[in-house]
Amino acid sequence: MSENGARESITVTDNRTGQSYEMPVTDGTVKAMDFRKIKTANDDFGLMVYDPAFTNTASCRSAITQIDGDRGILEYRGYPIEQLAEQSTYLETAYLLLYGELPNKKQLSEWTEIVRIHTYIHENAKKFMEGFQYDAHPMGMLCGTVAALSTFYPDAKHVMEETSRHIQTVRLIAKMPTIAAFTYRHNRGLPYVYPDNSLTYTGNFLSMLWRMSEPVYQPHPKLERAIEILWILHADHEQNCSTNAMRAVGSSHADPYSATAAAAAALYGPLHGGANEAVIRMLEGIGDKKHIPEFVKRVKQGEDLLWGFGHRIYKSYDPRAKIIKQAADDVFEITGPNPMLEIALELERIALEDEYFIERKLYPNVDFYSGIIYQALGFPVDMFPVLFAIPRTAGWLAQWREMLADSEQKIARPRQIYVGQKRRDFVPMDKR
Ligand code: ACO
Repeated sequence: MSENGARESITVTDNRTGQSYEMPVTDGTVKAMDFRKIKTANDDFGLMVYDPAFTNTASCRSAITQIDGDRGILEYRGYPIEQLAEQSTYLETAYLLLYGELPNKKQLSEWTEIVRIHTYIHENAKKFMEGFQYDAHPMGMLCGTVAALSTFYPDAKHVMEETSRHIQTVRLIAKMPTIAAFTYRHNRGLPYVYPDNSLTYTGNFLSMLWRMSEPVYQPHPKLERAIEILWILHADHEQNCSTNAMRAVGSSHADPYSATAAAAAALYGPLHGGANEAVIRMLEGIGDKKHIPEFVKRVKQGEDLLWGFGHRIYKSYDPRAKIIKQAADDVFEITGPNPMLEIALELERIALEDEYFIERKLYPNVDFYSGIIYQALGFPVDMFPVLFAIPRTAGWLAQWREMLADSEQKIARPRQIYVGQKRRDFVPMDKR
């Protein structure tokens, strides 16, 4: 019963039979399985719900990340993203996502230490990476190497044991930056730089990327912090495409390396984490502010997309894009401005005043500005999705752990509406 005495349920009348069915409403949701009892005859399979792309289907209960898409609010475990970006570190935020609470001093120190001592990858994993073509896309290398890690840690298949889950979680968080940095060095034909565990998580990443002959690489503290902020913003985003892949693959009890590789592969696509790469290619293609109106016209005619705009959930400004825009100034102070920024700002201004984008509630998403910072920091464009995958690993793993602990979850297995041929007999070759 609700407060006003109304029943917390809906009644559905099947006009084919005239029968009515009452279904409970819980958390603003009805259970899809409740529709199965709606039948026209005893041997009828029952009604299914049809929702390609899950546009109106909740696939789980989750206590990790909350998004209010209309108001542009994002919270991890109840903490506003703005506060985490300002006051937290990536590793602390990863702990929060994974274990539900902010760590105390001792917990944070133990967590940082255990991640620190797992940053090296097996020499054979390094050799595996050396086998990639010199110009292999870094995201392809990342997906392949993360999947290969499962062959190094056969204990990872014990997904229902917390000791195993914990150590694989640590290994993945610790090794992602190492693998990512090796993909970069590989593309450049440079020797891989081993982790320097005296540095911070982000500082060590920069060292593995850019250290040359100097004995110790000293990252610029402001750039180190800028990466920290970007990684906090990217750490989780509830049931997006890659997280759904992580949960779906993990639901068969595959090991977390295989599931993370699948999630990273989903992230790779330009409609998802690959959008940051697509944004820069779009801005470079526009080339000059004077070409923006012509580009926007093409988008409105459906000939192109305004990359980095639009979101399934946000129907107002993505709060992460706001924070990134602010962080960009700190970066440009050190690196000098990125000429792409001027085009991006003007493109955003024009789009936000245009009826096409207003009507469809299309605003900049996280990827509209992240690529501009990453480019100013000196990263090649094809590294951008990799820079997204590193921090998102915390979110994937938090969601994977939650899924395994959820007694309502089973192997993910959607239904289909079969629209193919009816049964027919095989036609021999000479009769076709
Ligand atoms: N440029 C132009 N038009 C767009 C854009 C865009 N970037 N995004 C959506 N639209 C239009 C659609 O064509 C559609 O128009 P219509 O109603 O006339 O058919 C309408 O807006 C609704 O869009 P949908 O595609 O139905 O929205 P959906 O929720 O399925 O897609 C998505 C969301 C994939 C993010 C989409 O907005 C898009 O392709 N954006 C560009 C790629 C991008 O930036 N992806 C990164 C997302 S953030 C992330 O994953 C990290």
